[in-house]
Amino acid sequence: MSEASTSTGNGDAKQLLLAVNNIEVIYDHVILVLKGVSLEVPEGGIVALLGANGAGKTTTLKAVSNLLGAERGDVTKGNILYKGEEVQNLDPNQLVKRGVIQVMEGRHCFEHLTVEENLLTGAYTRRSGINDSLELVYSYFPRLKDRRTSLAGYISGGEQQMCAIGRALMSNPSTMLLDEPSMGLAPQLVEEIFERVKKLNEEQGVSILLAEQNTNMALKYAHYGYILESGRVVMDGDAKDLAENEDVKEFYLGISSEGRRSFRDVKHYKRRKRWLA
Ligand SMILES: Nc1ncnc2c1ncn2[C@@H]1O[C@H](COP(=O)(O)OP(=O)(O)OP(=O)(O)O)[C@@H](O)[C@H]1O
Ligand SMILES: [Mg+2]
Repeated sequence: MSEASTSTGNGDAKQLLLAVNNIEVIYDHVILVLKGVSLEVPEGGIVALLGANGAGKTTTLKAVSNLLGAERGDVTKGNILYKGEEVQNLDPNQLVKRGVIQVMEGRHCFEHLTVEENLLTGAYTRRSGINDSLELVYSYFPRLKDRRTSLAGYISGGEQQMCAIGRALMSNPSTMLLDEPSMGLAPQLVEEIFERVKKLNEEQGVSILLAEQNTNMALKYAHYGYILESGRVVMDGDAKDLAENEDVKEFYLGISSEGRRSFRDVKHYKRRKRWLA
């Protein structure tokens, strides 16, 4: 197998789209947050980046999309390759033009703009094909079409998340970095959004890097997963294997073959967790 390809669960080799190689990220020149993170996204893959609060998921996505500068963060070691080319020194706009777009945590929409105006802001790097993209977004998210003239500040949380994803789609991306799309949404809506994302992946070939605290849901839709703890990848594997792994079940899904765990088992937790260190 060549260096530019990676193996997938079903045995065929897919082109490597994104490779994050051993990156270190420091905020404010002193706060070391990522301590050597590596991950890969194959062409057409859905890859989940899992981990608890503060594990470094958002930081990793922002390192890829080059949005760390605004946070006084720097990639101080390692490199990031997109389609085989180093991209960590590009500005975010150049990256969007190459097809990499991030949907930020907290579904940022411009509240004082309508849904359609919000979507159109996502096409700022493009000169043509904008109407086709708008129709595509509406075909995947018919609710947005119904609410196209509503101010984004007045639509529901689920619709705002759809609007944020729709706006990202307006840049005609080949890779979408999705930061916690499930945040604050009812389970049924989360499912609806993940179904749409899966469909986009299958039908439009958009590759996805998905940061989620909702391990269960993410592993249901992803092909492959990485688990981050305190700025390090502590485990990775096919999504199915991770979902069935006893330790993942225990630490991240709150279930184990011995039954549900409580904080009283923290000693046991710490002991078992040593294998992760
Ligand atoms: N701009 C910043 N300046 C300093 N430290 C930061 C900054 N942003 C994040 N951090 C720190 O970096 C660590 C990782 O944060 P990050 O937001 O990447 O985690 P996360 O996995 O996305 O967490 P969450 O699930 O809560 O979104 C945390 O300890 C956080 O406090
Ligand atoms: Mg985050």
